Amino acid sequence: MQTLQDAASLRATIRGWRAQGHMVGFVPTLGNLHAGHHSLVKLARARADRVVASVFVNPTQFGPNEDFERYPRTLAQDQAGLAESGCDLLFAPDVATLYPFGADKSVSLHVPELTDTLEGAHRPGHFDGVATVVCKLFNLVQPDIAIFGQKDFQQLKVIERMVRDLSLPVKVMSGPTQRADDGLALSSRNQYLSVSDRQTAALIYETLQQMRDLIAKGHARKVVEQAAASKLERAGFVPDYAAIRRAEDLAEPGDGEREGLVALIAARLGTTRLIDNLLFD
Ligand code: PAF
Repeated sequence: MQTLQDAASLRATIRGWRAQGHMVGFVPTLGNLHAGHHSLVKLARARADRVVASVFVNPTQFGPNEDFERYPRTLAQDQAGLAESGCDLLFAPDVATLYPFGADKSVSLHVPELTDTLEGAHRPGHFDGVATVVCKLFNLVQPDIAIFGQKDFQQLKVIERMVRDLSLPVKVMSGPTQRADDGLALSSRNQYLSVSDRQTAALIYETLQQMRDLIAKGHARKVVEQAAASKLERAGFVPDYAAIRRAEDLAEPGDGEREGLVALIAARLGTTRLIDNLLFD
């Protein structure tokens, strides 16, 4: 696996692959990779002739009080894991490559409506940063397919919408959330948890499952959401939301709507903010 930092060599390498008729799969990441990312690389490996991953801690998607500075930069470890998962090329640009005029003076993309709610409401500007950097990365890599984790469900929806709205020639695909034995969704941020908070954190997945089961039994959505938030609070979380939405567009489902739903939770435990979701179907 080769690692490239500049746009010109990235483009030249990919042009060479295309000349040989190869299809390119792409897995964008923030780095500090774990088994969840590696599963996405393996999916790309199975669907494309060549696999590119990117590692870039994107400043524009972190809010002023978020963990941009402390987000772990572990490039050597990431390189080893990517090579083992079947990645052909790691693109690891610096900020000036992706933001030649500065991160605060960049063209910025905004995907309306979908980003007004849930994560978008609690992390203003976050999805503008995600959409902007993913569009820039797509322009540089020009992949045939790009694979994102379902753990960031709203992000996946935002990227699908952006790709469709801007007619980008990329097929967006997703891979299932990878979980620890107790159900906690794998995330780079799990390592911020204390030993006892790590045990408590498994309650998020348990709560999502309970939300699904209660809806299947016919309980009212608002009651289920409230019960989930209370359960998390009792265990020591500070929930931002415990919500049931339509999976297609994250709109609030009508009373009695039972098909095509997703439960989503975001909650703080100590200084760590965790998110997870569960598709009901
Ligand atoms: O999910 C992530 O790792 C990031 O939000 C992404 C898609 C790589 C954009 O920086």
